[in-house]
This record gives sequence, C-alpha cells and structure tokens, in this order.
Amino acid sequence: MNLESILFTQGFGSRRQCRALIGDARVSVDGAVRTDPDTDFPITGDAFTFSVDGVVWPYREHAYLLLNKPAGYECSRDPQHHPSVFSLLPPQFAERGVQCVGRLDQDTTGLLLLSDDGKFVHLFTSPKRKVPKLYVATTRHPLDDAQLTRLRDGVLLHGEPKPIAAVDATARGEHALALTVMEGKYHQVKRMIAAAGNRCEALHRERIGGLALPATLAPGAWQWLDAADLGCLRSG
Ligand code: URA
Repeated sequence: MNLESILFTQGFGSRRQCRALIGDARVSVDGAVRTDPDTDFPITGDAFTFSVDGVVWPYREHAYLLLNKPAGYECSRDPQHHPSVFSLLPPQFAERGVQCVGRLDQDTTGLLLLSDDGKFVHLFTSPKRKVPKLYVATTRHPLDDAQLTRLRDGVLLHGEPKPIAAVDATARGEHALALTVMEGKYHQVKRMIAAAGNRCEALHRERIGGLALPATLAPGAWQWLDAADLGCLRSG
C-alpha cells in the first residue's frame, strides 16, 4: 500500500492533506523520513508502524479501542450538554469513522469500546446478541437481600413486555452492587435498581464478556485492543 493510502486509511485527513503531510517531511517509516507519497510498503498483520510528527502509529485495518470513560462525557459525536468522549481520543479515530460500541450515560464511568468495524459494532450492539456486562453501582440506600432477589428474579421496566433479570446481583458492600446484565437497554441498570426499590447514585462498567477494564488504565485514557483482548470479549 502506498504511503498516502496508509495515512488516508488511518484517518490523517483527506488524500490531499495526507500528501501534504508526507511532502512536508512529517512522516517517517523505520526511522527514515519519507517524502514520496507513492512509495509502497508491504502491510502484513499488525506489524507495520509509521510516525507522524514523531508520534508512532500502528497500521490497523480496523481500529478496536477501549476507553476508561470518565464521568461528564457523552458517547456521541454530536454531544448536547457535555463534551464528547471523542475529545479524549486522537482526532484521526473520529476521522476514520470510529464509533462507540453501545453507549454509557454521561455520568457512567468505565469500560467503553469503540471501533470503525461496522460488523463488530453491530454484533456487540445487536439486541439478539447477549453479552454479559458487569457494572458496579453505588446505591443511595443500603442493599438488602430482598432487593438482590428481585434483581435476580427479574424486574418489570416501563415499556418492556416482560421482566428483565440480572444474570448476577451481588452486594460488594452496604452501598456497592455488582450487577451483570445481558441486555443494553436505555438506562437499564439505573432503572432496574430503581425497580428493585433502591436508587443508583453512581455507575461504573468493569467488564464486557471476558474483557475487564485494565486496572492500570487511568480515567480518560484509551488503548488499542489486540487479538487476545478481542478473544476475551467474545469468550464472556
Ligand atoms: N445502564 C445504565 O443505566 N446506564 C449506563 O450508562 C449503562 C447501563
């Protein structure tokens, strides 16, 4: 693939902008500045890297990302009341069509997936596909066994034809509830907690399938997902 196409597919702007970046000697491969946009490079697997203004980027046919979402950010490219989660990412991700894989509320924190692989986004957001998602909620009132039982047995949410049951509901403390759900309905966890007789004061997503939010990833930080991470995600 030629250097212009490499930059273009990775979200570094229009073809014209990519040619200009290369022509301005801002792009290097293997430590050497390359000023010819038509130079071809073999792209095999995930090994190819290039740098723009000294920042190294891996070539990826598709971007699969994980963000530790902080509170106060909207999962939208066109946010209404808060900054967008895309403001936490390098701009080339939005440029290449990366989108959120499902949404977290603006005040929910934790594991958010993003990708520009339409099939992947569809697979993980389709209501037909049941993927366990583990949330930890801080509750206003102390948790009790009756609430946990109601959550495990199923609670009826407004507008839903039948009760929705948590796969697991466990108290991690007097006000800390670990809840695993399969669906991804609007405000689902907050509504389930309310229907069980409590109130969600804060919500954090820890895990999707077998993929956990890395403890070392600071709020607001992101990382690429590799093949092993994607395998974990599916292995739930
Ligand atoms: N359930 C909610 O209520 N909010 C979220 O952000 C995610 C799940």
